[in-house]
Amino acid sequence: MKTVRLDKFLSDAGLGTRSQVKTFLKKGAVSVNGTVVLKPETKICPETDAVICRGVPVTHTEFFYYMLNKPAGFVSATEDKSAATVLSLLKDAPGRGLFPVGRLDKDTEGLLLITNDGALAHRLLSPRHHVEKTYYVRAAGSVTAADLEKLESGVEIGEKALTLPAKAKLLSVIPSPEGSAVSEVELSICEGKYHQVKRMFHAIGAPVLFLKRLSMGSLSLDENLAPGAFRPLTPEEIAALKKE
Ligand code: URA
Repeated sequence: MKTVRLDKFLSDAGLGTRSQVKTFLKKGAVSVNGTVVLKPETKICPETDAVICRGVPVTHTEFFYYMLNKPAGFVSATEDKSAATVLSLLKDAPGRGLFPVGRLDKDTEGLLLITNDGALAHRLLSPRHHVEKTYYVRAAGSVTAADLEKLESGVEIGEKALTLPAKAKLLSVIPSPEGSAVSEVELSICEGKYHQVKRMFHAIGAPVLFLKRLSMGSLSLDENLAPGAFRPLTPEEIAALKKE
């Protein structure tokens, strides 16, 4: 049966870097099959040995899933020469090889899934799967019923075809003393073309002033997450996403 070093097992399970793990191992925080183990090099069998760290059983975890409430000003990338990346907001999160699932523009806020599960990311982003994304949009001008109808049935955004059928709900039109109103719209789309929402609103003559993603498939932004904050997905959220 395959064995691994205890410090590697704990680190791979997301409990910290190898040196952090060694430190708490030496303090007696970990037991294997009921016996406290202090030596990081101790070999264990992940399938049969019961590893407990500070009273909590440790299971081998390969994949990590986080929901981030992306703030404006961060780029949806793992590295960038000139701007802060969304991954810099998850510096202390366990998990190797994390990346954002899809892109939100630098000035867009809201739900961003961060994972190291490439297969799930591929499925969620595949144009064939038509995973629905819902956005809160604040746009310049008074969006009319005719505009909503256009957004829903398909608009010209400079691609070969019109945009796919969408759902658009007018939340409010806020009049302004200077006469330039602002409209709040909830838009759900099943595509993910570059700047898609901004281009759709440009097509109806209502430039986007503020954009926030509220949901992606079954996953909704947790309202308790302040901009810049993240949390691991629950097992139920992960299971639902895998069914998308
Ligand atoms: N559509 C956009 O225009 N921008 C985003 O960030 C996401 C969708």
